[in-house]
Amino acid sequence: MTPFTFATATRIVFGPGCSAQLPGLVAEFGTRPFVCTGATPERFGALLAGLDGSLAWPVAGEPTLDDVRAGVAAAREHGADVVVGLGGGAVLDAAKLIAALVPDDGDILDHLEVIGAGRPLLHAPLPFLAVPTTAGTGSEVTSNGVVTSPEHGVKVSMRSPAMLARVALVDPELTLGCPPAVTASSGLDALTQCLEPYVSPFANPLTDGFCTEGLRRAGRSLRRAYRHGDDVDARTDLALCSLLGGLALANAKLGAVHGLAGVIGGLTGAPHGLTCATLLVECCRGTVAALQEREPEHPALGRYAEAGALLSGTAGVQALLDWLAETVRELDVPTLGELGVTSGQYPQICRQAAAASSMKGNPIVLEEAELEAILSRCG
Ligand SMILES: NC(=O)c1ccc[n+]([C@@H]2O[C@H](COP(=O)([O-])OP(=O)(O)OC[C@H]3O[C@@H](n4cnc5c(N)ncnc54)[C@H](O)[C@@H]3O)[C@@H](O)[C@H]2O)c1
Repeated sequence: MTPFTFATATRIVFGPGCSAQLPGLVAEFGTRPFVCTGATPERFGALLAGLDGSLAWPVAGEPTLDDVRAGVAAAREHGADVVVGLGGGAVLDAAKLIAALVPDDGDILDHLEVIGAGRPLLHAPLPFLAVPTTAGTGSEVTSNGVVTSPEHGVKVSMRSPAMLARVALVDPELTLGCPPAVTASSGLDALTQCLEPYVSPFANPLTDGFCTEGLRRAGRSLRRAYRHGDDVDARTDLALCSLLGGLALANAKLGAVHGLAGVIGGLTGAPHGLTCATLLVECCRGTVAALQEREPEHPALGRYAEAGALLSGTAGVQALLDWLAETVRELDVPTLGELGVTSGQYPQICRQAAAASSMKGNPIVLEEAELEAILSRCG
C-alpha cells in the first residue's frame, strides 16, 4: 500500500440545526469576528445578529485578488481576531484567504501558486471557522483558497496546512434555501469531488471510505434535493457528500473535470460548480475510453464500475455513464456554449489544463487532443 498522510480541519461539527452553536464556537477564539457572507447577508440575518462585536463583509461572487486585498484591509481596520466564512465556496475561500493574510506583512501574490512567488506563510493565520451554505465544495475542510486574477485570466490557489479551518460547522438546514440551479451545480461538484479522488492514483484507504459513502448519498439524494429543496434528509445527504468530497480531494487530489473547470473559470468567469457539472459526463467518458484503449488492466476502471453501483444500484462503467448523463439532463445542466465558452478557446484551455495542479489526480494523462474532444462533446 502507498504510504499517506491525512490532514483536515481541527474540529468538524455536523448536523441539522448545529449552526446555533456558532456564537459559542466563535467566542472560543476571539471577540472581534470578521464575517464574510454572500451578497445577501440578510439571508442569515438571525445567525449574524448573534455574533457580538462582528463586522459582516459581503463577498459578491468568486473572489478576485482585489476582493481579498480589500477584505484584509477591512478586517485589520475592524481589529479582527477571528474570521468566519458563512456562505458558498466562494465566501469560504475569501474568508480563508483573509484569515491567512491579515497577520502577513506582504501581498497575496507573495504566496499564490502559478502567478505568485509561492512563498510559505511566516505568521500563523487568524483562527478561521467555516460555515458552508451550499453543498458544495468541501472548502470547509481543505487547506487552499481559490482566487481569480482577472489581469492574468486565471484562477489559482494559495495553500498551506495552516489555512485549515479551526472549526468546520456544517448545518444542512443552511442549504434549504438554495434554488434548484444552485443545488444542481454545487451538488454535481460535490459528487465529482467524491468520484475523482476515488479513481485517483493518490487514493488511500481513508479517502476511499469517504468517497464511497459520499457517492452512495449523492446517488440516493441529489435528484431528490433538486426536486424537493425542503427535504432535510436529502439536504443532509448532500451536505455530507460535500464534506466527504472535501476530505477526499484535499488528500487524494482531483482529475480532468477540475483541471479543465479551473482554467475555464479563470478565462471566462463561468461559475465553478456549473462548469464542473457541464464537464462531468464527458470527462468520465473520455478518461474511461483512454484507459480502455491504452491501459485496459488499470484498476481505475474497476473503480468507475463500483461508482456505477454506488450511484445507480447497478455495477459497471456503462451504468455509471448512463446514470450521470440522465442526472445531468434531469438537473438542466447547460452546455459549454451556454456558459459563454467558444470553440476558439478550446486549444488554450486544454494547454493550460494539461499543466494544472487539479489535473494531477486523473487516472491517466489525457493528451491535449483528447481534452479538446471532451470539450467539443460538451459544447
Ligand atoms: N477551496 C476549495 O477547496 C474549493 C473547492 C472547490 C471549489 N472552490 C471554490 O468555491 C467556489 C464555488 O462555490 P459554490 O459552488 O458553493 O458557489 P458560490 O459560493 O459561488 O455560490 C453560488 C450561488 O449560491 C448562492 N447561495 C449560497 N448559499 C445559498 C443559500 N443557502 N441559499 C440561496 N442561495 C445561496 C450564492 O449567493 C451564489 O449566488 C468557486 O470559487 C470555487 O473555485 C473551492
